[in-house]
Amino acid sequence: MLQGKTLLITGVSSGMGEETARVVKAQGAKVIGVDLNPPRIQVDQFIRADLSSKAAIDELAARLPDGINGLANIAGLPPTRPAAQVVLVNLVGLKYLTHQVVPKLADNASIVNLASLAGAGWVDSIPVIRDSEALDFDGVDVFCKKHGIEGARSYFFTKEALIVWTMQNRWTWRDRGIRMNSVSPGPVETPILKDFVETLGARVEEDMRVMDRPGRTTDIAPVVAFLLSDGSGWLRGTNLAADGGMHSYIISQRHGF
Ligand SMILES: NC(=O)c1ccc[n+]([C@@H]2O[C@H](COP(=O)([O-])OP(=O)(O)OC[C@H]3O[C@@H](n4cnc5c(N)ncnc54)[C@H](O)[C@@H]3O)[C@@H](O)[C@H]2O)c1
Repeated sequence: MLQGKTLLITGVSSGMGEETARVVKAQGAKVIGVDLNPPRIQVDQFIRADLSSKAAIDELAARLPDGINGLANIAGLPPTRPAAQVVLVNLVGLKYLTHQVVPKLADNASIVNLASLAGAGWVDSIPVIRDSEALDFDGVDVFCKKHGIEGARSYFFTKEALIVWTMQNRWTWRDRGIRMNSVSPGPVETPILKDFVETLGARVEEDMRVMDRPGRTTDIAPVVAFLLSDGSGWLRGTNLAADGGMHSYIISQRHGF
């Protein structure tokens, strides 16, 4: 299904990025992996890069070949990390990397962003999201202070903004047929699940009850692979909830269904 495609995957050395690399390779794709840490699985090319750094992203982009068929933005930091760092990696670096990679993409390429159920409340954050549209690496500290983004809020905010950015850019590069979508998992068993439990406590426990079990990387990677494949070609700007029904549950509760 992904035979002959070259895919760039960030966050390839752990969790959902690692599993996505495994799944797309099994479907015949070549993988260029990016991460701070070395990968534990065999990829076709690995480029170490710190995605919170503009200079590192420039260096990374310069090393990429032309003709990449898909970009999966999976690297991310959990809510336990310092707020400015979370905003840098999960939003500012992700957007900048994407813009730097677009010239290296083949026509009809697919871009997939790993958002989260944590971003589901984006509709209540529109003014802050708008203010982040031109946010650059240097402005993150001031931006966080200005909007009171501290602690776990940083994580929620970055995922809200990412879902909106994905909708906005569903078809920005239409002259080259390049589309963008996102995937929003609920809690997933990866090394950072403990960070979510630490931050959100009872809420994550409640999520587990609703879902019967936490998600697994093997629940999410095939969804990312689908969005990278031509079979999802008519999906643009879609945020796929891959969350064991959590999002539907929340909506149903809110509206009394
Ligand atoms: N685990 C969950 O419950 C959950 C739920 C919803 C969404 N997500 C999102 O899914 C994505 C993947 O998360 P995961 O659970 O697989 O986490 P993980 O910690 O297992 O993997 C994240 C990877 O990103 C890399 N990374 C972090 N900062 C980086 C940086 N500055 N530069 C380069 N690489 C960097 C890490 O080294 C790691 O390999 C994240 O964006 C996360 O926000 C996770």
